[in-house]
This record gives sequence, structure tokens and C-alpha cells, in this order.
Amino acid sequence: EKQGLQVAIDGPASAGKSTVAKQVAKRFHYVYCDTGAMYRATTLKAMSTNVPLDDDDAVSAMLEETTITFRPADPVQRVLLDGEDVTMAIRSEAVTNNVSTVSMLSNVRAELTERMREIAQAGGIVMDGRDIGTSVLPNADVKIFMVASVDERAERRFKDNAEKGIHTPLDVLKTEIETRDHKDSTRKVSPLTQAEDAVRLDTTSMSIDAVVNRVCEIIEQTIKQKESEEN
Ligand code: CDP
Ligand code: CDP
Repeated sequence: EKQGLQVAIDGPASAGKSTVAKQVAKRFHYVYCDTGAMYRATTLKAMSTNVPLDDDDAVSAMLEETTITFRPADPVQRVLLDGEDVTMAIRSEAVTNNVSTVSMLSNVRAELTERMREIAQAGGIVMDGRDIGTSVLPNADVKIFMVASVDERAERRFKDNAEKGIHTPLDVLKTEIETRDHKDSTRKVSPLTQAEDAVRLDTTSMSIDAVVNRVCEIIEQTIKQKESEEN
């Protein structure tokens, strides 16, 4: 018997997935799993050990010798790469602009997908990414596809950056986001697409609280429905 639901949240860069997923997980006492962090950690290690980012065999071989784990902590969950805290390092612009190259590799995807399924298997999980509802957890109990206009998403990243003291111009961020979305949506293996049974949520003019409440409502409804099916 699974303890709690599997909740899949997918969508393009800066749609609000991780911010919302974290808060939703907290409300239901579920585990939050940031699958983008797994691709980012893989990219960071390949970059810093000079493994060619477009070489599936080389990156996969590296990954076999690599552990990526999450450690719950407040206010932010920590990401450990071979035991080392890389929570901040995997958010660098260099990693951000290279991660879509690594996430195109089919053997790398297969390996990380297997690790994700292991993490999700017990249920009680909110997992966000690009292909959770379509590929990693096709039988997830709740699937959300979160979108927002590219202008809004570039603004959000701009504000995030400003808080970190990074001042990349808005139009550059917009181009970077468009480039990454395009690569993620057109790659051969499990591209970013909405699952047929996903609920589409356009967050362009929604506050974070409003999005969190909407997702929680959908989860509550699903829990009730499952309970009534069992009786
Ligand atoms: O937070 P942000 O939207 O910038 O991206 P992320 O969720 O950290 O994901 C970084 C990158 O990892 C994405 O642009 C994809 O290339 C890749 N990714 C993926 O291919 N599949 C997933 N399930 C999650 C991330
Ligand atoms: O995980 P993903 O890349 O989809 O996005 P995120 O990192 O959760 O959100 C990107 C930024 O947008 C964060 O600074 C959020 O606070 C902000 N945000 C927002 O302003 N309004 C929303 N409805 C959702 C997120």
C-alpha cells in the first residue's frame, strides 16, 4: 500500500514548478524531488572533470561512479554530489546553459529516470521536471503541466538573479530561456510535452499562493476520489 500520492509537475523553465512543488510537498508532508537538480549535478560534474557533454557513453560511465542525493533542510533542501554540497553550484549560468546538452543523452536519461522512479516508488512525493508525467511516472496520481508566457518567465528569472547580484539583461535571459525550451521540447528522448491526462495551469498572472492553492485543491480532490473508490 502506497503512503500518499505521486504528484508530477512538469513545464518549461521558470514556470514556477519548484517554488510551488516545495510548498505543496510541505502541506501534505510529502517528499519533494527536484529532478532538474539531478541533470544539473550530472552536468556540473562532467564540466569540472572534462567529460565531453555530448558524449553519452562517457557521461553515462561517469554517472555510474556518481551519487546524487537530497538532504532535507530549511529553508532549502540541499543537493549532494558525491557527498559534496552543490546546491548553489548547480545554479550557475554555465551549468544552466549546458544542462540541455547533457539532458539530450539517452543513456544518461535512462539512468537518471531509474533513480527517480526509485525515489518516487513509495508515494507521498511531489516530483518536478520536464518528463515526469509523460515518462518517469506515467501512472502518477496527479499530473500538472505548468506554463507561463516567456516574457513573464524572463522577468521572474531577472528578479531571482537580481537577488543574487547577477545582472544579465532581460533580453538575454529571454533568449536563453527560449533556447533551452526549444532544446528541451525538440529532443528525441522524452521531450517536454504535456501528458494527455495532465491539468494545464497557466501561471502568467497568478501569485505563488494562488498556484499552490490550486494544486493543493487538485490533490485533495484526487485523495477524496480514491477514498470513495476504495469503499
Ligand atoms: O529550474 P529550471 O526551470 O531552470 O530548470 P531545472 O528544472 O533545474 O532543469 C534543468 C534542465 O534539466 C532542463 O532545462 C532540462 O534540460 C533538464 N531536465 C530534463 O531534461 N528532464 C527533467 N525531468 C528535469 C530536467
Ligand atoms: O522551477 P521553475 O524553473 O519552473 O520555476 P521557479 O524556480 O519555481 O520559479 C521562478 C521564479 O518565479 C521564482 O523566483 C518564483 O518566486 C517566481 N514565481 C512567481 O513569481 N509567480 C509564480 N506564480 C510562480 C513563481
